[in-house]
Amino acid sequence: MAWKLMPPLLLLAWFSASVCSARDRTDLLNVCMDAKHHKTKPGPEDKLHGQCTPWRKNACCSVSTSQELHKDTSLLYNFNWDHCGKMKPACKRHFIQDTCLYECSPNLGPWIQQVNDSWRRERFRNVPLCKEDCESWWEDCRTSYTCKSDWHKGWNWTSGSNKCPAQAICRTFESYFPTPAALCEGLWSHSYQVSQYSRGSGRCIQMWFEPAQGNPNEEVARFYALAMLHGIGPLLLSLALMLQLWLLD
Ligand SMILES: *[C@@H]1O[C@H](CO)[C@@H](O)[C@H](O)[C@H]1NC(C)=O
Ligand SMILES: *[C@@H]1O[C@H](CO)[C@@H](O)[C@H](O)[C@H]1NC(C)=O
Repeated sequence: MAWKLMPPLLLLAWFSASVCSARDRTDLLNVCMDAKHHKTKPGPEDKLHGQCTPWRKNACCSVSTSQELHKDTSLLYNFNWDHCGKMKPACKRHFIQDTCLYECSPNLGPWIQQVNDSWRRERFRNVPLCKEDCESWWEDCRTSYTCKSDWHKGWNWTSGSNKCPAQAICRTFESYFPTPAALCEGLWSHSYQVSQYSRGSGRCIQMWFEPAQGNPNEEVARFYALAMLHGIGPLLLSLALMLQLWLLD
């Protein structure tokens, strides 16, 4: 009978070995991007400001970055949220949270890519944003105004901050971003991809979280790092992990 157990045991041995060796890798986990304001390494920042406080225990942003990014047209990027009149506060808080995640999160390693921008050497792309975080962002912003659907490029910067280019007309967010995905994916040229997973699933990145329960994005980064190191998709990895649990049972 023993021979019948051989294939699953071999599979288990292979998988356990690869899981363990992958856990030793740290270059996708707990890292900061090489960008304009990021620290070189993540670490505690007890005094992080306002909406960035969830990252206090371990952050890629400095205290001054966290303070500055709460200001309108902050000195970080001279980016003016109010380029089509005042952005509503309920909407603006999502942009502040998005900037906190961008500047502070040490859990975006699996999605970091090299770029040739003049102001940064790395960016993240296709971060799987939890669907509820994207939906509430879109819902709270649909009645604010903008003039562009890709905020990375095409602005008139001659005044020092971004102004709508000549042909771009101010309209509601909803007319530039007809769906939540159009907003979250289009806004920063695919920094995010809207996940089909929900907050708390361990399979998508949360822009918002309660620090009392720890940072949920740590587990998410571990999961995707493992999937990427093995060159297998997240679905297959989920199946493999389930199989492993079942075999160990
Ligand atoms: C950056 O520029 C160099 C040289 O121009 C080029 O070889 C490289 O492919 C570029 N990288 C990206 C990510 O575009
Ligand atoms: C950019 O804005 C300035 C005023 O700030 C204006 O004079 C100029 O024509 C604008 N350029 C374009 C290309 O829209």
